[in-house]
Amino acid sequence: MHARYLPDVLHPGRADDQRVIHYQIVGLSLPWCAIMPGVPLTPDELLTTTRSVRKRLDLTRPVPLELVKECLEIALQAPNGGMRQGWHWIVVTDPQVRAQIGDFYRRSAEPYLASAAAADPNRGAGRGVMARVSSSSAYLAQHMGQVPVLVIPCITVRPAWPAGETQAGLWGSLLPAAWSYMLACRARGLGTAWTTLHLRYETEIAGLLGLPGDIRQGALIPTAYYTGGTFRPAARRPLADVLHVDHW
Ligand SMILES: Cc1cc2nc3c(=O)[nH]c(=O)nc-3n(C[C@H](O)[C@H](O)[C@H](O)COP(=O)(O)O)c2cc1C
Repeated sequence: MHARYLPDVLHPGRADDQRVIHYQIVGLSLPWCAIMPGVPLTPDELLTTTRSVRKRLDLTRPVPLELVKECLEIALQAPNGGMRQGWHWIVVTDPQVRAQIGDFYRRSAEPYLASAAAADPNRGAGRGVMARVSSSSAYLAQHMGQVPVLVIPCITVRPAWPAGETQAGLWGSLLPAAWSYMLACRARGLGTAWTTLHLRYETEIAGLLGLPGDIRQGALIPTAYYTGGTFRPAARRPLADVLHVDHW
């Protein structure tokens, strides 16, 4: 199902044969043969229901590496500054390495979650919403190392920080691609969550994974099939509260 859906999103209006040719050019290894049937979603449904999946990550069902690679092929279509494509994608499947990363994540998350709850239990969203997020985050903190696949999007940093180069330029060349990966996962029935708490131990994890010194990590994305039914749009601050047309 998604094999038809996907090219329509990427190349609206192209004839089928043109899509196949294009896919061969960009090197996607699986132009039409989905590994598993995808989730039939409109573009807006995909964008509004790609949630942080934590408690519903299926820790027991293996995820084919080929499916992860298919999602990463989609991610590589994201914009990136100067077409430098300085990104690298670390896909961790080894159970021992996952357990070690999970341990670093838990050690960072536990104090963070405790202090965040103590500081302001109502921050940002309603009390009920934050209680759910905290409970869900605490669950992930205990189980990160058991998630079948951990993906760490990385980017090469240049030794000298050229004048005028901004954080936005650097991370803007990685994070849209990471989000594309998560959307591609969702379209294929995989759940993910954006996480960053492991970064407190970025150096230790870099050593564990043998990352070169000029490589920075942008996120840690647990990836698994999800249990249960579909996902819904979430509550957000109203647009009217954050919209500024022409002036603040
Ligand atoms: C920059 C960033 C860092 C985040 N870090 C974490 C994290 O370390 N652990 C976690 O469980 N969730 C993390 N999240 C997920 C947010 O908690 C989540 O996006 C938010 O609660 C909204 O929920 P939703 O993604 O389901 O819409 C992070 C999200 C962003 C954008």
